[in-house]
Amino acid sequence: MGNEENVWTVDAARELYGVQRWGLRYFDINDKGEVIVTPLKEHGGSVAILDVVREALGLGLHFPMLIRFQDLLRNRVVRLNSAFTEAVAEAEYKSRYQGVYPIKVNQLREVVEEIVEAGKPFNYGLEVGSKPELYAALAFLEDSDCLVICNGYKDDNFIRTALIGRKLGKKVFLVVEKLQEVETIIKYAAELDVEPLVGLRLRLASSGMGKWEKSGGEDAKFGLSTQEILMASRMLKAAGLGHCLKLVHFHVGSQVPDILTIKKAVREGAMFYAKLRKNGHDLEYVDVGGGLGVDYDGSRTTFHSSINYSLNEYARDIVYSIKDVCDAENVPHPVIISESGRALVAHHSVLVVQAFGHVKKIPEDSLPSEPKSPHKLVQEAWQTYKYLDEDDNNPLEAYHDALHFKEEVQTHFELGLIDLEVKAEVEKFFWLISGRVLEIYKDAEYVPDEIEEIKTRFSDRYLCNFSVFQSLLDHWGYGQLFPIMPIHRLAEEPQRRGTLADITCDSDGMISKFINLYEEWVDTLPLHDTNDEPYYLGIFLTGAYQDIMGDLHNLFGRVNEAHVFLDEDEESGYYIEETIEGTTMEKVLALVQYGENDLSRKMKAQFDRAIKEDRLKPNEAMRLLNDYQKGIKGYTYLDLSRELPLR
Ligand SMILES: Cc1ncc(COP(=O)(O)O)c(C=O)c1O
Repeated sequence: MGNEENVWTVDAARELYGVQRWGLRYFDINDKGEVIVTPLKEHGGSVAILDVVREALGLGLHFPMLIRFQDLLRNRVVRLNSAFTEAVAEAEYKSRYQGVYPIKVNQLREVVEEIVEAGKPFNYGLEVGSKPELYAALAFLEDSDCLVICNGYKDDNFIRTALIGRKLGKKVFLVVEKLQEVETIIKYAAELDVEPLVGLRLRLASSGMGKWEKSGGEDAKFGLSTQEILMASRMLKAAGLGHCLKLVHFHVGSQVPDILTIKKAVREGAMFYAKLRKNGHDLEYVDVGGGLGVDYDGSRTTFHSSINYSLNEYARDIVYSIKDVCDAENVPHPVIISESGRALVAHHSVLVVQAFGHVKKIPEDSLPSEPKSPHKLVQEAWQTYKYLDEDDNNPLEAYHDALHFKEEVQTHFELGLIDLEVKAEVEKFFWLISGRVLEIYKDAEYVPDEIEEIKTRFSDRYLCNFSVFQSLLDHWGYGQLFPIMPIHRLAEEPQRRGTLADITCDSDGMISKFINLYEEWVDTLPLHDTNDEPYYLGIFLTGAYQDIMGDLHNLFGRVNEAHVFLDEDEESGYYIEETIEGTTMEKVLALVQYGENDLSRKMKAQFDRAIKEDRLKPNEAMRLLNDYQKGIKGYTYLDLSRELPLR
């Protein structure tokens, strides 16, 4: 890998990790071989992630550490709105775009505040799907020109609270998911004496594609059938609220990989809008829902972790499709709403994890010397290794022999015929032979499948201080891929390949699928030898869904956060505006009903008993109890600062 003389360069690292393909010019590598972030692209400076890590460590944060680039979030809001504004102008569309951010994608207050602030020039609003989200949105979105779209099933409290928003003059839309909600809206609108803004969620025939396709289509969980739409229309008209039906909404699924799916759904949704207008309703809005995807693997394909379109293409296709249908049906162009979440927030956060151990198949001190054991299997394995490089030897045959020795030794072991030394020697030669065979095939034009498989078997396991279940749930649950790469040492060629194991006690707590441009995924990631020094990996594009969906498997809690802002006046060009400490052991334990006081009391009783029974001296016992009480206030992840201090 590298340039023509086979010299490793930073460019080779760029290509190897595909950073320029998935990074949308927000991420790159500097000459020192460190990953840099340029949150505002050409309108601002760059920050090396390792510098932020150093500073955050100085502020007392530990790994795993989530770094949010708040300016990047703002940049995404501007980019999305500009893409639609340009598409509207280009198509000579006679209305406008007015988007909303679906809070569920990342509800963190600092994230929502940043989006609302950046969205002010565009009257950018919020979408909510539950009561708590509505309560937050009503308070946080003060500008009454912005829209609040209420999706999801609703009870009386949900509907009444949304109508309280209407009383305050806010544009709160209640999107009906089932007919009963129409009755409730009519009831509370009368009670509060307020005109509701009603939307209908369409159950389109067009369904999505990819991992979230079930969100759309005729069998979707949400939405009204054509018959139900007509019934809702009649109910509203009968209550004298026909003019309050203002919006149609649909959502084909998140991360839609193929633009054709979107085009088809938008045309169908626009047709519902046109027909309902002709049916006597004063509709003004078409809400195309979410679905705008993120090219996680940079392949620009219809693979589930990719998309085959750009943001501009997405905006243009929506605007043109709606215009086309409306012109043909002779109805006015509606205001276009989109509820893009993932594409807005995915890029802004990077999870930095520390690799703290490196399990190699061949231990460093496994020298291929003549074995002392006279056991036949050991001697045969040694001979195979010794003569492997001779001209008339076939490496594939040697590998088959090695496989045979390994199997034999296992059988012997299970029958109790050999001791641990013999087993260890044969296994050592198995890995040494496999390693040598791999080297022999390194530059071969054709590599048999079996040898390709050795590559995966041969890969190392990097132990990383994080939990897949807390920080990367969609990888575990859906097999969604995220770009992962070291954030430093990229001026050095990575000589090893590995999988990543987290610190949960679950064998699923692994990452063994990584992005690749030529295949759907690869099983191992190119990595450097850690040499027992700190080694940091960035897991990128984690800002959408991962933060909030993470669970407490093994009681690993939320991770530490550092929020970064660019600032030209700072020497470094940025500052850490805020740090949020991850959940402490005390807090996660409380979530599962273990009160800290109770735990302390129980421990104290045991120490008291130990003192009474003369198993511990009072001083020592109190010191140890104090350690327990102090320790429980700590972070749930491993503290490796003593073993691997950052230099
Ligand atoms: C109704 C609705 N709107 C918007 C979204 C956000 O979608 P995305 O993150 O794909 O933009 C979702 C997510 O599934 C949704 O269910």
